[in-house]
Amino acid sequence: MAKDYGEMEDSNPSGNPYIRNLADPARRVFVRGGMAAAVAGVLSPLLGGCATGPGPASGPLIGFKGVPVSTADAVTVPEGYTATPAFMWGEPVGVPGNMPAFRPDGSNSAADQEVQMGMHHDALAYFPLEGSRRGLLVMNHEYTDDGLLHTDGTRTWSAEKTRKSIAAHGVSVIEIEERGGAWSMVRPSRYARRITAGSPMRIAGPAAGHAMMRTTADPTGTRSLGTLNNCANGVTPWGTYLTGEENFAFYFNGPEKPDAHQRRWGLRPRGRNYRWHEHDERFDALKHPNEFNRFGWVVEIDPMDPSMTPVKRTALGRAAHEGAWTAQTRDGRVVVYMGEDAAFEYIYKFVSRDPVRPGGFTANRELLDHGTLYVARFEADGSGRWLELKAGTGPLNAENGFTNQGDVVIKSRQASDLLGATKMDRPEWTAVDTRTGEIYCTLTNNSQRGAKDRPGADAANPRRNNVMGQIIKWKEQGDFDGRAFTWTHFVLAGDPQNERAEARGNVKGDPYACPDGIWFDARGVLWIQTDAHATVMYKGEFARLGSNVMLAADPATGDTRRFLVGPPNCEVTGVMCTPDLRTMFVNIQHPGETPTDRSDPDHPSRFSSWPSGVAGARPRSATVVVRRRDGGIIGT
Ligand code: FEO
Ligand code: CA
Ligand code: CA
Repeated sequence: MAKDYGEMEDSNPSGNPYIRNLADPARRVFVRGGMAAAVAGVLSPLLGGCATGPGPASGPLIGFKGVPVSTADAVTVPEGYTATPAFMWGEPVGVPGNMPAFRPDGSNSAADQEVQMGMHHDALAYFPLEGSRRGLLVMNHEYTDDGLLHTDGTRTWSAEKTRKSIAAHGVSVIEIEERGGAWSMVRPSRYARRITAGSPMRIAGPAAGHAMMRTTADPTGTRSLGTLNNCANGVTPWGTYLTGEENFAFYFNGPEKPDAHQRRWGLRPRGRNYRWHEHDERFDALKHPNEFNRFGWVVEIDPMDPSMTPVKRTALGRAAHEGAWTAQTRDGRVVVYMGEDAAFEYIYKFVSRDPVRPGGFTANRELLDHGTLYVARFEADGSGRWLELKAGTGPLNAENGFTNQGDVVIKSRQASDLLGATKMDRPEWTAVDTRTGEIYCTLTNNSQRGAKDRPGADAANPRRNNVMGQIIKWKEQGDFDGRAFTWTHFVLAGDPQNERAEARGNVKGDPYACPDGIWFDARGVLWIQTDAHATVMYKGEFARLGSNVMLAADPATGDTRRFLVGPPNCEVTGVMCTPDLRTMFVNIQHPGETPTDRSDPDHPSRFSSWPSGVAGARPRSATVVVRRRDGGIIGT
C-alpha cells in the first residue's frame, strides 16, 4: 500500500518531529500543522516556496529547459541558472589556527593536506545549522590521483607521499553560509574537520572483537585507523552521516596466492598500486592479513560533534559499499538500503531492532548495532524476497564457516552466495521515494554480464555486455521491513537510437549511460548522475552522450531531462539541496582524468583544467553551487 508523508509523520513514535525532519531534508518540505509550527524558524522560507512555487500540485514537476550534450571544459546548466565552483581539493577546511593555503603545484605537505579538502569529491549531504542559510556540508573524498597530488607525481615514492595520499582520502566536514545568493566556507569553524584514511575509528556491532578483526596494533579488534574509498552515503533520521567504504581492496598488498576469503574479496598483489604498504605496513596484508577485514564497512559520523570518533557499523555487513540510504518503518525503526558496487555483487538492507529515539546521536548511539541484515533476490516474475543473513540459519552454519554473526557480516559475500541472492550489475546508490514507498537502485553497468564463465542475463539484469546500466526499483510488501517485494525497472539506460540492441535504452527524454548517484528532492524529483569512465566516453556508442551529466526525472512518468553537464572526463556525483530547494550542491569528481587514473604532473590533463581554466593547471575536484538567477526553486 502506498505510504504518504502524513502517515509516516503521524506514526513517529518519538513524538519529536524536529529530530526526524531535520535529519532528512527530503522530509522537511511536507511537515504540516503543529509540526510546522515547531520548526517554523527553520522551515518558513521552504514552506513559503512551496506555497507559491510550481510543484506537483500546480504544474509540471520539471520546468527547466534541458541542456544539450557537451564536451566543453565547463559545467553547463540551464538558462537562468548559475553553477559556481567552490570547496575545491586543497582548500583549508577551517580548523581554527591551522589553515594552510592551497598550493597549485602540489607542494602542500601531508600535514597541510590533513586540514585541507580531500581529493576526488563524491557523495555529500547538507546539515542545516540555520535552515537554508548556514549549515554543515559533509562530503566523501573517494580516492586520489597521486600524479596530481604530489609535485612530481609518483616518480618517487616516500613516507611523506604515503601520508599525504592517506590524508587526501576520507571525509570533510565544513561549515558554509549564504550571503546575497553566494555561498562560502566559514573559516575558522568549530565544526571544521577532516577524517582521513588514518583517523581513529571505533568498530561496533557483531564483528567488533572478532578474531578476524584483531591485529598486532589492536588486539581487541575494536579500534582501527581510517576510512577510505568513501563513495556514496546516507543520512540517518537522528542527524548523522553514513559513508560507505567502497574499493578498499585496491589499497592492500596481497599475496601472490590469496586464500579463498581473500580471493572472494579481491585482495591481490600490490592492489591498485597505491604503494601505501611500502611505508605503512598495515596495508601490507602479507604482514597484517586482518587489517584488510577492518575495511568495507558503513561508517557513522556525527557532523555536529567534531570530537566524535567515527564508528564502523558492522551489523550492516561488509561490502564494497556504496549508498546507505535510510527509510523508517511506521513504528519508527530505521531501514538502511545498501548497494555493493562490484560486478555480480548484491543489494542489502538492514532493519534496526529498536525504534529511533529523540535526542540525536546521543540517544541513538547503538541503534545501528542491533537488527537484521538481508540480501535481495529478484525473481523473474517481478516478485522478490529478502533473504536473512543470520548465523545458524539455513546454510549459514559452522560447517560452512559461520559460527557467529561476526562471521556472517565479515564474510557477507560468501554468505550471500550460499543463500542464492541475485548477482547484480554493480549496485551503486539507493534512494527512497517517500511518496510511493518505492526504493530505487542504480546498476551502473557490467560488461562482464554474459561473458565466458560469468553469469548470464537474468530478469533484473537483462542485458549481456551491459555497458549502459539500468535503474531498478521495488516496493516492499507492507512496511519497509517487509520480507517480500515487487520490482520493475525504472529505466534501461542508453541511447534509444543505438544501433546495437544490447546497448539500446528506453530512456524517455534525454539519453544517458551508467547511472550512479541518485537522490529524491523534497518535491519528488529523481536526480540521476552518471559515471561513464574515460576509457569508454566519447567513443562508439557513447559518442552521442558527451561528458558525464546530471538529469532530472519525473518518477511517475519517467520523463528525463538533462540538467547539468560536467567537464570532460569527470564523474558527476553527490547531490543535495538546502531545505528550501533554492540551492543545490553537486560534486564534480576527477575532471580531466586520464584513462589510466594516474596523471602526468608535468602535463596535468590534456582534457581539462577545470575549474581554474588556466592552461596547464591541475584540474581539481570541487563542489558546484547551483542557484537560479531569480532565487527560485531548483528544477521548476
Ligand atoms: Fe565509487 Fe561505485 O562508484
Ligand atoms: Ca559511485
Ligand atoms: Ca561509479
